[in-house]
This record gives sequence, C-alpha cells and structure tokens, in this order.
Amino acid sequence: MPFPLVFALLLWSTTAYAQAVLELAAPSPERRRELVHLVRQDCGSCHGMTLQGGLGPPLTPAALRDRPVDSMVATIYGGRPGTPMPPWHRFLSEAEARWIVEQLRAGFPQ
Ligand code: HEC
Repeated sequence: MPFPLVFALLLWSTTAYAQAVLELAAPSPERRRELVHLVRQDCGSCHGMTLQGGLGPPLTPAALRDRPVDSMVATIYGGRPGTPMPPWHRFLSEAEARWIVEQLRAGFPQ
C-alpha cells in the first residue's frame, strides 16, 4: 500500500475511534436530564439556585474560565476534604462529573 494511503487510513481509524470513545463517555439524553436536575437541586443548595454562589463559590462560565478542568472534575467526584464541598462519587461517575464541568463552563442548561 502506498504510504499516504496507509497514513490516511490510520488517521481515519484513530479519529473514528476517538469519536466512538467520546460518544460512549457522554451521558445519554435521559441521564443528562437527571444530572441537570441534580446540579440545579443539590449543588444549587450550596452554590446558589442560579449557580451564582452561596456557601460555595459561583459555578458560572466567568467564574470557572481560568480553573483547571481536571481539578474541578476531581473536586466534584471526590469532594474537597476540610471544606463543606462533599464527594459525589456515589451518585455519578467521573465521566459524568467531567460532563457537568463542561456544561458549567459553557453555561449550564436550565
Ligand atoms: C454542602 C455544600 C455544597 C454542595 C452540596 C456542593 N458544593 Fe461544590 N463547593 C462547596 C464549597 C464550600 C466549595 C469551595 C471549597 C473550597 O473552599 O475550596 C465548593 C467547590 C466546588 C467547585 C470548585 C470551584 C472552584 O472555583 O474551584 C466545584 C466545581 C463545585 N464545588 C461543584 C459542585 C457540584 C457540581 C456540586 C453538585 C454535584 C456541588 N459542588 C455541591 C460546597 C458545596
């Protein structure tokens, strides 16, 4: 096989693979609705019903823009010991915590 063809095939298969993995990691539409409800109700009790802050800091796109994504995922999944921020690993997966962070950074759905 000519080299450019092999390269193109390799590139195509890795992108297709990456897309499949991302799709698998993304929560289903039904689960997304549950997660949005969880954030509005449970996270909202500390971070404010409109996520503008309360006992916990604001979770708005402006507030989170400069925060490292991985550390926010870890904060949601594992909590922050020594602060009121509780761990949520009993209620969601790490991939779901990452999905929530992405939504928060983009402007959380109603
Ligand atoms: C009992 C109150 C409480 C609840 C419920 C709560 N949080 Fe928090 N959260 C806090 C506090 C307080 C902090 C700040 C911790 C610190 O001082 O570092 C925090 C920090 C965070 C941070 C880090 C923000 C930053 O600026 O680094 C994120 C992200 C976060 N919470 C998301 C969530 C999400 C998502 C939920 C719901 C799944 C949630 N929190 C539920 C109290 C809470």
